Formats: sequence, structure tokens, C-alpha cells
Amino acid sequence: MELQVKPSGSLKGEIRVPGDKSISHRAVMLGALASGTTEIEGFLRADDCFRTVNCMRALGVQIEEGDRKNLIVRGAGLEGLVEPVQVLEAGNSGTTMRLLLGILAGQPVYSVITGDESLRRRPMDRVSIPLREMGARIFGRRQASLAPLTVVGGSLRPITYHSPVASAQVKSAILLAGLFSEGITTVVEPAKSRDHTERMLRAFGARLEEAGLRVSVQGRPRLFGQKVVVPGDISSAAFFLVAGSIVPGSEILLRHVGLNPTRTGILDALSAMGAKIQVLETGETAGELYGDLLVSYSYLKGTTIQGDLIPRLIDEIPVLAVAAAVAQGRTVIKDAAELKVKESNRIRAMVTELGKMGVQIEELPDGMVIEGGRPLQGTILDSYGDHRIAMSLAVAGLVARGETIIKGAESIKISFPDFPRVLKQLQSAR
Ligand code: S3P
Repeated sequence: MELQVKPSGSLKGEIRVPGDKSISHRAVMLGALASGTTEIEGFLRADDCFRTVNCMRALGVQIEEGDRKNLIVRGAGLEGLVEPVQVLEAGNSGTTMRLLLGILAGQPVYSVITGDESLRRRPMDRVSIPLREMGARIFGRRQASLAPLTVVGGSLRPITYHSPVASAQVKSAILLAGLFSEGITTVVEPAKSRDHTERMLRAFGARLEEAGLRVSVQGRPRLFGQKVVVPGDISSAAFFLVAGSIVPGSEILLRHVGLNPTRTGILDALSAMGAKIQVLETGETAGELYGDLLVSYSYLKGTTIQGDLIPRLIDEIPVLAVAAAVAQGRTVIKDAAELKVKESNRIRAMVTELGKMGVQIEELPDGMVIEGGRPLQGTILDSYGDHRIAMSLAVAGLVARGETIIKGAESIKISFPDFPRVLKQLQSAR
């Protein structure tokens, strides 16, 4: 599918972005491991999260749709999962595969998990190494680095793991495996990654201790089903935070966006660039902060994005590159080599595609340098089958001269199926 984007007039109005992807995955997984029922309001109805739902169903968990499209998970309890009789299919979803590996490691069953072409290229040794250390047997191509992966789990021993990468997926896989071992499992990260697993585990009744970059979970807890209200995904909001900042005359109100401090790096980076974003009305649900954001057009300037800020905005870097292309002056993004192993090589993808639009942009081994302020030219662009690249390029198209055509835009259904409609709504509300 192709997405066509024309130069846009001002974007105006009020929107609700879809539910947080990270929280939606975790609510299904913890709901499955809890006793009792978990009701999920605001569940992200997109391909990635349905992968987790289907994998959990294949492991014997009953999941239904309730009133108002809430998802109802009938908890099987820590001991209640069954051996899957088919290959578990994670599709494009790294979160499904990596977090599930942590859960499968603790099951005395044989399971096989695979994914689509993109996921089968992504590194899984970052979870199979610590999970093997805990006692799970995991097999796959290149020393269990590439899916399809086979897991023969069972009794696990607790470990203290110093992760070489700041990755919430790695941290979460180990903490979830830790639930199935006797004793205390600890993960130490090089920089703080998103902490949704920790917050939700606590809300479900697990015992966790946190100190700086170290988090420990006590094994064999009793988890209790909960009502989970999923806030809007700040990573989906990001496209409109940037669009509202760069399309002249825009003003967009984004309702009920998740504002977990491990995820709000985009607000810090855009503020440093001179964006006008007000945080209105805030609240908290099950340990997760949320609030309404009002963004209006402003004059942006270049900035440097690096260090501990990177994990707090890792998924927003493609669309930040678009903001940087419009901003006056130079933007440097570094310490972001992780972007090369996302759904696509997101450094290469943005450098190549923004380059086609006439942006002066240079690839670094761990980021990019963008000389902003030159006019963007609409053209035919490739999304590399990556949802965030497709939507970021669509935002660039709003301020380009002429028409922009984005190929492979069906990938948008991975995280934000309604994106084209929401964009049209803001364009027509002028
Ligand atoms: C996620 C963690 C991040 C992020 C991904 C979702 C999660 O990946 O990029 O989109 O839900 O835990 P890493 O943990 O690999 O950094």
C-alpha cells in the first residue's frame, strides 16, 4: 500500500492517540500469569499487540473481548500455561518475542517461536544468553541469536545480570523469567530503559526493589488480576507533536497520553528545539502517569540528542529527524546504535529517505547529523516495511513541496492503524 501526502495547511483539533503498545503487551502477559481476571481498557488494537494475544491463547489462556472493546484476560496463574501445539508467531513484534522468551524459559514445556522477515533478522542473543544462564535451554540459528527459536524451559535459578544494552525488552524478559525461579533475580542496566514491566508487576502484587539502574524481583509471587487502563502511546503522539510543531498555524490537543518519565524524552528534545508543548491536566493509573498535551506551531532550532536521553526517546528518533530537518541549524543524534536493530535499520532508513527529499543529512555509526532549514521536496519514498519510518516520512511530507508517496505504508497497522484517518481529521478541522 502507498500513502500519499500533500503539503498541508494548519493541523487543528483534538485527538486521542491509540493505547500504549508497551503497556498493552505487558497487560496481556501479566494478566495471563495472574490469578483472576484482568480487564484491559484502551488496549492497543494493532497487529503487534494481537500477536501477543494470539501467542497467549496458544499457551492456553482465555482472552475475550468485553464491553466497550475492553479485553478480558482470564488468568491461568503462574503454573497454568500449557504446551503450545503450534509454532508461536510473533510477526513483526520484538516485544512479543523477547518478553515471551522470558515466560517460556520458566515453562516445563517445548515451544518454538518465530516472526516475520524483519524479526528473524533481529538479535535475540541479548535475551537467550541471560535466560540460558538461568537454566533454560534455547536453540536457534547463530547460537540462539536468530529466530526461529526453540525453548525447553523448566526450573530456573535466579541471577544478577549486567545487561550490556539499555533495553526494556531484555530487562523485562529476565524479570519475567525471575517470576518462575526461587529467590531474587536482578538486572542492572547501563542506562534507564522504560520501566512499565516494573510498575505493572508491582500493581499485580509482585515484590520489586529498585535502586538506580538496578532492579530486583522476588520469584514465585502471587499475581492478582487487575483492571488496567492503558494511556495513549507517547510514541504515537510523537508524530503529531512534531507535525503540530512544524506545520505553520497548527494547534493540536492530544488527550490522555502516557507520561511515564522513562518515555518522555521526546518532550525534552522538542522543548530544547524550541517547540511549544504544554502539559495540561495530569493523572495516574496503576503507577503510570498520563496527561493532555497541547502543541502549537513554533520556530525550531537544532539540538544535540545523546547519552541517557536516548533510551527515553529511542522510538521517536525517526520523527525527531524530521523535526531536525525543518529546524534551523545543526542537530546531532548520537549514542543511538540500537536504532540499527529495530524493525529496520532506522539510521540508514531516515538518512536515505530524508536525503531523497533534499535534506542535508549524514549517517554516523551511532546516529546522524542533520543540517536543517532547507526546503524539503516531495518524492517517492520507501518505509522499509517499518511502521515508524512510514509515519515519520508522512510527517515530512506535510511540509514538503509537491506530493510525497510512501511505499510499504501498510506497516502502519503494526502500531497505529488509524494514523491516516487521524491526520485527515486534523487537516479538515481548519
Ligand atoms: C519496548 C522497548 C524498546 C522499544 C520497543 C518497545 C518495550 O525496545 O524500542 O519499541 O515494550 O519494552 P528495546 O528494549 O529493544 O530498546
